[in-house]
Amino acid sequence: MPRIYVHPLPVRIWHWINAAGFVAMLVTGFQIRYIGLFNLMSFRTAVVLHNWIGFVLIGNFFIWLVFYLFTDKIRVYHPELSPMKHFRASFRQAMFYGYGIFKGEPNPHHVSVYQKFNSMQSMSYQVIMLLLVPLQFYTGVLLWDVSRFSGMIDVLGGVRVVDTAHVLIFIFFAGFIPMHIYLATLGHTRIAHIKSMLTGYEEVEDEHSVGG
Ligand code: HEM
Repeated sequence: MPRIYVHPLPVRIWHWINAAGFVAMLVTGFQIRYIGLFNLMSFRTAVVLHNWIGFVLIGNFFIWLVFYLFTDKIRVYHPELSPMKHFRASFRQAMFYGYGIFKGEPNPHHVSVYQKFNSMQSMSYQVIMLLLVPLQFYTGVLLWDVSRFSGMIDVLGGVRVVDTAHVLIFIFFAGFIPMHIYLATLGHTRIAHIKSMLTGYEEVEDEHSVGG
């Protein structure tokens, strides 16, 4: 099967540090928020780990951002279709995952160098990476030192508002990660996409994809 190079090294390094970090943030976040329900570690350890890993993830985020901002690979995120067609293609893709796939229908998206994502992936990754992840980092930093950032917290409506936003996005990620892992297993083999995020190469069925 022909292979194409879809995930450059910086994206792969960012992705796996990010994945491990987010899982650790969920575990320590649960421990902090639901004391008593879990007893994996002490409250103090959970807070210290949550803060440190949080700052590592903020730094790591810039590997992804700077890579895309300064290379032409940002084209993988440019919609090639008009907004209406883009939404329709996302809907078609969602129908495939929710229904067509169980009937053995072919995937409506064909991977190529500059179209490694289907419309649904491209839209959801952009909302996640440009909105939800930065908001989570921002609210997290404010909550890390509430007295230092009290001015900003007051402007936003107080600690309760900032904390609620942080917890709501946390709940989103608790749902997103299992869904993302499930979708990542739907390649031509169970591990094909995961392998490609490790090696950089995705195996494609038609030769036309290779040139991109
Ligand atoms: C925990 C285990 C995870 C696994 C097994 C996993 C797997 C994958 C795989 C296989 C891809 C390749 C493209 C695709 O199939 O969509 C991918 C891409 C991506 N993942 Fe994950 N992922 C994980 C965690 C996360 C987390 C926690 C986030 C974000 C908070 C995330 C965000 C992304 C993004 C934004 C991309 C696109 C990267 C790009 O710009 O090229 N992933 N993931």
